Amino acid sequence: MTVRVRPISIPADLDAIASLSFGLGEVAWTERDLWVCFGAHRGYGLLTLSTRLDEENRIVEAAPLGFAICLPVAPDGCRIIDMAIHEDVRRKGLGLGMMAVLMLSLRRAGKLSVDVVVSERSLAAQRFFRACDFRATQVLRGLFRDGSVDGIHFEYPLQREGDLAGVAAADVKEAR
Ligand SMILES: CC(C)(COP(=O)(O)OP(=O)(O)OC[C@H]1O[C@@H](n2cnc3c(N)ncnc32)[C@H](O)[C@@H]1OP(=O)(O)O)[C@@H](O)C(=O)NCCC(=O)NCCS
Repeated sequence: MTVRVRPISIPADLDAIASLSFGLGEVAWTERDLWVCFGAHRGYGLLTLSTRLDEENRIVEAAPLGFAICLPVAPDGCRIIDMAIHEDVRRKGLGLGMMAVLMLSLRRAGKLSVDVVVSERSLAAQRFFRACDFRATQVLRGLFRDGSVDGIHFEYPLQREGDLAGVAAADVKEAR
């Protein structure tokens, strides 16, 4: 499978993200949410897509496979507020690849840290962020489901040397 990771462009990618988030059965993004997130809240995001060659051997985007959406956090940080890979293509390295591109983009934008809050019940997400070298820093009591489920705050210092940004973006193209 050949894939491309690129910044989300609104409104062009509204349908791709909506279809992915509805199809995944996770919390679904509506068109309105996306406008607010990428407009008023100055959000930034990445889309992972499969690609194919057309009749003239040009690479064209085929299907959306995953996305990551972040919001700026004062003063120099960034928070991943949602991220998902289509369930048919999980555990193939696509999430890790998208995260490597995200780290590189955020560092180039001058961000110094990136964080994410994950439900204590999302073991896959916790393992994923640990695999991406995030460190659990705090338990946020009763953050989800009307206070019955804790959140776990993970952080990654972007100023650290030798990190995920060192994973060549090219690796993403050859997902396992
Ligand atoms: C979390 C998620 C984005 C991971 O995407 P992915 O493309 O499957 O992840 P990768 O293939 O890059 O996994 C990299 C590593 O993370 C860890 N990991 C990922 N998913 C895991 C799982 N279900 N169980 C255990 N470890 C897991 C593993 O160490 C994995 O390496 P390995 O496959 O060589 O063992 C995906 O499972 C998903 O979309 N989940 C639903 C939404 C979600 O929870 N989002 C995160 C919170 S915002």
